[in-house]
This record gives sequence, C-alpha cells and structure tokens, in this order.
Amino acid sequence: MSKQIYITRKIPEAGLKLLKEKGIDFDMGVSKLAPSKKDIIKALKKKPYDGVISFLTDTIDKEVFDACPTSKIFANFAVGYENIDTKIAKERGIEASNTPGTSAEAVAEHTVALMFALTTRIIEGDKYVKSGKYKGWDPELLIGSDMKGKTIGLIGGGQIGTKVAQMLHNGFDVNIIYNDVVPNKELEESFKVTRKEFIDVIKESDIISLHCPLLPCTTHMINKEVLSKMKKTAFLVNTARGPIIDENALVEALKNKQIRGAALDVFEFEPKLARGLSKLDNVILTPHIASARENARNMMSEIAAKNIISVLETGKAINSVIK
Ligand code: GLV
Repeated sequence: MSKQIYITRKIPEAGLKLLKEKGIDFDMGVSKLAPSKKDIIKALKKKPYDGVISFLTDTIDKEVFDACPTSKIFANFAVGYENIDTKIAKERGIEASNTPGTSAEAVAEHTVALMFALTTRIIEGDKYVKSGKYKGWDPELLIGSDMKGKTIGLIGGGQIGTKVAQMLHNGFDVNIIYNDVVPNKELEESFKVTRKEFIDVIKESDIISLHCPLLPCTTHMINKEVLSKMKKTAFLVNTARGPIIDENALVEALKNKQIRGAALDVFEFEPKLARGLSKLDNVILTPHIASARENARNMMSEIAAKNIISVLETGKAINSVIK
C-alpha cells in the first residue's frame, strides 16, 4: 500500500511535486485560516497517516500524537518549531523537523526594511498624504533619524542575525553589537560585530533587533524593566517570535514615550494584539510576513517534503529537531 500523509494547510506545489514523484499520497487541509487542534485531531483520525506536514500555527502535542499513532514524523513548514512538543515526540520515537536556512535572507531584508521604516517615518508619511493632510513642503514635518553612525544591537547571532549584520555592515555606516549565549566568530570577524552582555546591548543600542528563538529563557526577555533601560530615542524591532516581548509592557513604554518606536512582525497573542497597540502612532505592525517570499515558501515546501520522504525511506529526518 502506498504511503499517505496529511498536510494541515495548503503548501506550494514544489513540495507536493516531490511527494508525487515518490508515490506518496496526501490529503491537505483546505482552510485558509489556521485549523484548530480539534480540527487537526479530527482530520488525523480519518486515516492511518504515515506522516504529517504541520505549520507553526498548529499545536502538535500529546493529544495530536495520540490521534495519529501511525505518523512517524511531524515535518514543520517553518524554521521555528516551538509548536511541536519535541520532548513527547522523542519519548515516543516520533521524528520532528523544521526548514532551516530557508528564510534567513527574507527575514533579514524585512528586518532592515522595518528599521528604515522606523527611522525614515515612511508609514506615517504615507498615512499623512493619503489622509489629505499634506498642504505643502514643511521643513519641520515628520523629522526622521539618520541610520549613519547609529548602534544596532542584535539579540541573537544565528543565521538571521548574521544576515542582518551582513546587510547593515555592507550597506550602511553603523556600529553593530550583539548578544548571544553562543559566540559567533564569523559574525564578529566578517562584519565587525562586537559581542556584549545582554544588558549592555539594551542600554547602548539605537535600534534593537530580536533574532533569538522562543524558549522558556527568552519568553518576556524584553519586559518592563528591560524596556526602561533602553535609550529614550531607541527603536525595537521584532521579526522573531511575539512572546519574547511582554507586549503589554511595550504598549505602556510606547505610550509613555519611554522609547521612540517599535516595529513588530510577530505578536505575543498572535493574531490578537495587546490592548492599545494598534492605536499607537509610534509602532509599525506587519502580519508575520517576514519570510513571505515565493522563493522562501517554495524552499520550505520542498524541505518539509524531503524530511517526510527521508523518514519514510530511512527512518531519519534530514533536519531533525529531536535532541
Ligand atoms: C516563520 O516564522 C518561521 O519560523 O519559519
């Protein structure tokens, strides 16, 4: 009997093609919105699926594993995989995988775009013109801040942090510092980035950009106290994971002009926003689209499919996240 897998939401054809070439049948969820855990469990109970392609919006925990005891792998269509209970997967000998390296370029570009959107006040300018407020050139209108000479603080010196550093180092006259529990010599040497204590990055940076995974130790890493240590003129950018910031504390800090502004692509209670966030003028919000590029999505689709194929053929995932 041919192998069959379940894909919780539509993925690009690139990955489906690889599955078809291997004769792997698949059923795919049709909902545009993220399915609930109940929906996933219901779908998985229909057939003895051999594997599952899941998304970061899917909770993959004990109950989901119970609903599909035949599945040998949960292949996440994402770089992050905090939605999968890897501890239970390991206990049960189930593989889990992610799609590393697929979105670093896109996320880094989005991050740099958000930095410039903040310093140049492009979004405010767009709203100003479209709302009919523009009555003629005014030398005092929407004064932004220069990027040149600024200190950029990266929290996380992995693939995405390194790409951001590369883009800023090659293109702009800025000073870059970072904090990571693991030193990254390539980042330090190739792009002249200095590793500092977390709190020094917070205190010294004009723009702080988050590039660390969501872990118990990074949850609410940016909280009321940390925000109070940032420069009053500083910006905060988050293209990593929402819960790294205590979003209610950020709303307060932005309201009180304790920091100058923020740009967020991810949210603590995604897709909900903390009360008051969307009413603020000094925040730019994008709907978790930092990796939304055709190329990145196609690569994610292919890598998720390759992990499924690898587990079905060899028992091992190429990009296993089981430690
Ligand atoms: C997107 O946020 C990802 O983890 O790939």
